[in-house]
Amino acid sequence: MEKIIIFDTTLRDGEQAPGAAMTSDQKLEVAFQLEKLGVDVIEAGFPIASPGDFKAVSTISRSIKKSAICGLARCLKPDIEAACKSLKSAKHPRIHIFLATSKIHLKYKFKKAEDEILEIARSATRLARKLCADIEFSPEDATRSERDFLFRVIESVIAEGASTINIPDTTGYSYPQEVYSLISDIRENVPNINKAALSIHCHDDLGLATANSLSAVLAGARQVHCTINGIGERAGNASLEEIVMALKTRKDVFSDLYTDINTKNIFNISRLVSSVTGFIVPPNKAIVGKNAFRHESGIHADAVLKKRTTYEIMDPEDIGMGKSQIVLGKHSGRHGLDKRLKDLGFRFNQSQINEIFARFKKLADKKKEVFDDDLIALVEEETRAGRKVYELVSVRVSTGTDIAPEATVKVRHRNKVFEAKSTGDGPVDACFKAIDKITGLSPKLSDYRLEAVTSGRDALGEVNLKLTLKSKVISGRASSTDIIEASLLAYLNAIDKYAA
Ligand code: KIV
Ligand code: ZN
Repeated sequence: MEKIIIFDTTLRDGEQAPGAAMTSDQKLEVAFQLEKLGVDVIEAGFPIASPGDFKAVSTISRSIKKSAICGLARCLKPDIEAACKSLKSAKHPRIHIFLATSKIHLKYKFKKAEDEILEIARSATRLARKLCADIEFSPEDATRSERDFLFRVIESVIAEGASTINIPDTTGYSYPQEVYSLISDIRENVPNINKAALSIHCHDDLGLATANSLSAVLAGARQVHCTINGIGERAGNASLEEIVMALKTRKDVFSDLYTDINTKNIFNISRLVSSVTGFIVPPNKAIVGKNAFRHESGIHADAVLKKRTTYEIMDPEDIGMGKSQIVLGKHSGRHGLDKRLKDLGFRFNQSQINEIFARFKKLADKKKEVFDDDLIALVEEETRAGRKVYELVSVRVSTGTDIAPEATVKVRHRNKVFEAKSTGDGPVDACFKAIDKITGLSPKLSDYRLEAVTSGRDALGEVNLKLTLKSKVISGRASSTDIIEASLLAYLNAIDKYAA
């Protein structure tokens, strides 16, 4: 079995994403979790870039003992010395130096000829190697570099003592076959390549970072640069969770390869990085997105309940995400609803399930997702449904800042529909007065409370109220996404108790 070295650059390339800056304390917290996750190398920052970065690399170097700690440096003496100084307490320090090798960078960024660049790479590696035993060299923009020049640079820096050669697809321009052939060519054409570990560093500008990294692994790269949640410059870097889970899940393709990552910690660190950077994980993000192991559609949910692997290629427990979830929404089927009701401890016969299912579908059309609280409220409605004396048929309300609130309410009572219209102090009051006209009762509203029982803009509102009727106090309760409807239903619920 051969190990794939996981080099995490969340704290360096990840932090370079606009808006992702972390404090030194936050970086340390992430570093502890990266160590717990089992990453081999933590690139903790770019020490020359700012005093904060220097401090973060120093603090992490003092605190982390298992993972190697790496600091980034340009091929400049002050950079390399700052990196070395910041890493002085690290148990396993590594300096990562980089220098662009593509024509476009040479011409516009450096205005230097190839031979000058080669010499800078050589002397920087020599200096870094004097200060640190573990040197990684990255020919920046390698995938857009002239191959012969790239091979020459790699050979020279290995000769100067670089022990890891990292190949960056800096602009995320490459595609998998191209990366495969580049890594293969490096292995074939750089005479001393066996003296160094070959690494890959991909950006996601074309959404190919993970595919390109895996392609490099298939071609013989044995270290992968990646970040948690794929954060990084522009569109980000290859995501650690995708790389690791692809290697684990597709053992048929990546046979004899393994990582030391404890995958059960993936979900926690994903959420930690999201919270410290403020970068929300999209629900459809592979592996760690909220929806990665959730099923709503009836066909999928039904199959997953019968055999999880019909629609899941990984076990969510393997990444510490708990169990797969059947989500209830407008695409859900009866089976999913039935299962959820049972999980919540409800037992219903078939005709009750049919009735609840019909109500559930109506609610699901109004809400994106039906949560457990919604379902409980709905079931409580259902268990009271059989005893209805007055049933709401419809309500129409007009209100505004410059008109008096007016409500027209239709109610079914003993198979006849009654309609009444009323104005009121507010739209709810107008509704209640219209009902009073229909029932002929004039209860006093002694308490009225409206609460959101579920979250989101489409939350279910629950109304609890008390009516006093002929010195009897009766309570009513109902819920709906429409607060007027919830109020009316609660009012009728109380009247029902009186009239029943
Ligand atoms: O994308 C890149 O080229 C880099 C280098 C510093 C390795 O991040
Ligand atoms: Zn990068």
